[in-house]
This record gives sequence, C-alpha cells and structure tokens, in this order.
Amino acid sequence: MAPVSVAAGIGVGLAAAGVFALAAAAADEAVARGAYLARAGGCFACHTDVKGGGAPLAGGGRIETPFGTFFGPNLTPHPDHGLGHWTEADFFAAMTEGRAPDGARYYPTFPYTSFSTTARADLADLWSYLRSLAPVARANTPHELKWPFGWRFLNRIWQWLFFRPQTFAPDPAHDAHWNRGAYLSEALLHCKECHSPRSRLGALKISLAYAGNRDGPGDTTVPNITADAETGIGRWSEIDVVWLLKTGFKPDGNDVQGIMAELIEHGSSHLSDDDLTAVAAYIRSLEPIRYQVRKPRAESGTPGGEFNY
Ligand code: HEC
Ligand code: HEC
Repeated sequence: MAPVSVAAGIGVGLAAAGVFALAAAAADEAVARGAYLARAGGCFACHTDVKGGGAPLAGGGRIETPFGTFFGPNLTPHPDHGLGHWTEADFFAAMTEGRAPDGARYYPTFPYTSFSTTARADLADLWSYLRSLAPVARANTPHELKWPFGWRFLNRIWQWLFFRPQTFAPDPAHDAHWNRGAYLSEALLHCKECHSPRSRLGALKISLAYAGNRDGPGDTTVPNITADAETGIGRWSEIDVVWLLKTGFKPDGNDVQGIMAELIEHGSSHLSDDDLTAVAAYIRSLEPIRYQVRKPRAESGTPGGEFNY
C-alpha cells in the first residue's frame, strides 16, 4: 500500500473515532441530564426499596394511600422484571398518557397526571438514563389495594373522567426564571399531587391546588403551601422555601418528616440552586387560599381537633 493511502486511511479512522467519541460524549450528557431529572421527579423515593436496601430504581418503594398500598415497579432494563423490552415510545406513553405497553392504564399514584406536562427532550433524557442502569432481577411486588380498586380496568374510566394529557405553556406575564420554576413544580416535581386535596375517587381538587391535603399519602396531612398567611406559607420568604427543599429544615428550625423528607433527601436536595430558586419563586407566587389542614399531632397538641371547614 502506498504511504499516502495509509496516511489517508489513518486519517479516516481517526475521524471516525472522533465521531464515535463525540457521540459517546453526547450520550453521556443525556444520561447525566436524565439522572438529574430522575432526582427532580422523585423516581427514587417511589421506585426503590429504600428500607430493604434495594438497588436504586429496581422497584419496591412502598406508597400508602387511602386506596391501599402501592409498590413502585422495577424501572431497570431487566428483560423479565424491568423495562428491558420497552421502546422509548412505550416510556413516553407511560409518562404522558398513563398507558402501559399492553394498553392497560396506570393508577394515578404514579403521578403521570403531572409528568404528562414534561417536555419531550426531558423525557428522552430520562429514558437514556433508565437505559444506562444495570438490569436488576427483582420481581415486582403486587399492590395491596382495597376493594374495588384492585380492578385495573377502573383506571380507564378514571382517566376518561379526570385525565387530559397536558403540555406546558410558558406564561408570558412572567420571566424565564419563574417559568422554569412553574414547569419543574407542575411537571416533574409534581408538588401539587401531594399538596392538594382529592375527591373520594382520587381526582385532584384543582380549585384547591397547593392548599394542602388532609388525607395525604401514608396517612399524613400535607400542609397548605399557598401564600395564605394563616393556613399556608404566606410568612415564608423565597429563601425559606429554597432552604427547606435543600435541607428539610423549616424557618422555625423543625425539620419535615416522612414522605416530604424522603422527597428532599432523594430528590430536591440534588437540584441546582438556579432550579431551586426558580421553584421557590413559583411557589411563593401562588394565589393565597385559606384552607386549614389538620396539623400533625406532635405540633398541634390537639389530635384531630384542627379541622376547620
Ligand atoms: C409517588 C410515587 C411515584 C413517583 C414519584 C414515581 N412513580 Fe413511577 N410508578 C409509581 C407506581 C405506584 C407505579 C405503578 C402504577 C400501576 O401499577 O398502575 C409506577 C409506574 C411507573 C412506570 C411503569 C412501569 C411498568 O412496569 O409498567 C414507569 C415507566 C414509571 N413509573 C416511571 C417513573 C419515573 C421515570 C419517575 C420519575 C420521573 C416516576 N415513575 C416517579 C409510583 C411513582
Ligand atoms: C410525596 C408527597 C409530596 C410531594 C410530591 C411534595 N410534598 Fe411538600 N410536603 C409533603 C408532606 C407530607 C409535608 C409535611 C411534612 C411534615 O410536616 O413533616 C410537606 C411539607 C412541605 C412544606 C412545609 C410546609 C409547612 O407549613 O410546614 C413545604 C414548603 C413543601 N412541602 C413544599 C413542597 C414543594 C415546593 C414541593 C414540590 C417541589 C413539594 N412540597 C412536594 C408532601 C409532599
């Protein structure tokens, strides 16, 4: 072979290697962005058997609700026990339509009702991240639901009644920072899924969005986080909200417990300061709603006595 073509051959080889390296770097970045978004979405809290020391996202997170106990399924790419056979389109349908690959509908305990608002590019990054996980052979734990909620076909009726997939439309009356906060809070961070009351059929009462929930998941009461000074967090500053989402400490020096603490530990404490201040700006701008949620026993001292309809 003539020296010239050898050199050219090497040149082509190097260029190809360069393209592969670039593609690999781009894929790594997508995975890193996806890992960040998975934190934001609280995927770890519900899809990991934290108490049993299970592998991250391999399923088994326990979610107590008034309808029974749910167990987050295995999201690793295991072919039998996880999402090994799923396509990206299957993942998009689960996240934005609450629809399984076989057409069955998910329970709204999986907050697809909020996730449906997530931008396609962010979903693609999340999917890249889930695909990058090591497959874990952990069989899913069946949910333990009260009659009649065990009938999955009821979810189809529920969706028909209460669910319309949403897309996020930025509000031109606000700046990009606020809109970023609105997007994160409404979509992946799904704050209002816990912080709003639900009807007996589990539909969010949108007129009381963010005003708290007396029957929250895990038998907790979830506080009002609208700007009402008496029943909400009207006296909190933006920094107070950022501090809570980062550390779990409230302005009075007490720390939050239970699911909010888990969500902070496995989720919001990993977010960038930019994103946290954006979320705080949005949350602090919520219209005040006067709605008294029973305070936790330890704090109120009068168990059950704080209802105020
Ligand atoms: C509040 C708890 C909760 C959070 C937070 C949550 N999930 Fe889930 N997820 C569930 C439950 C419960 C199910 C099962 C629903 C069912 O059986 O109908 C589920 C199901 C799923 C499924 C379908 C799995 C299958 O095998 O069919 C996918 C995909 C999924 N979640 C992805 C995610 C991702 C990605 C995140 C983070 C962005 C996330 N989930 C956050 C509770 C949660
Ligand atoms: C999985 C359910 C859940 C989600 C999702 C959730 N929270 Fe919470 N949150 C709670 C519960 C429960 C408490 C009460 C914890 C306690 O009192 O120890 C709480 C407490 C709080 C408090 C303290 C309020 C007070 O008066 O003490 C703030 C502020 C708050 N959450 C903001 C948020 C924001 C912002 C988001 C979205 C980024 C969010 N929460 C998402 C369940 C949730």
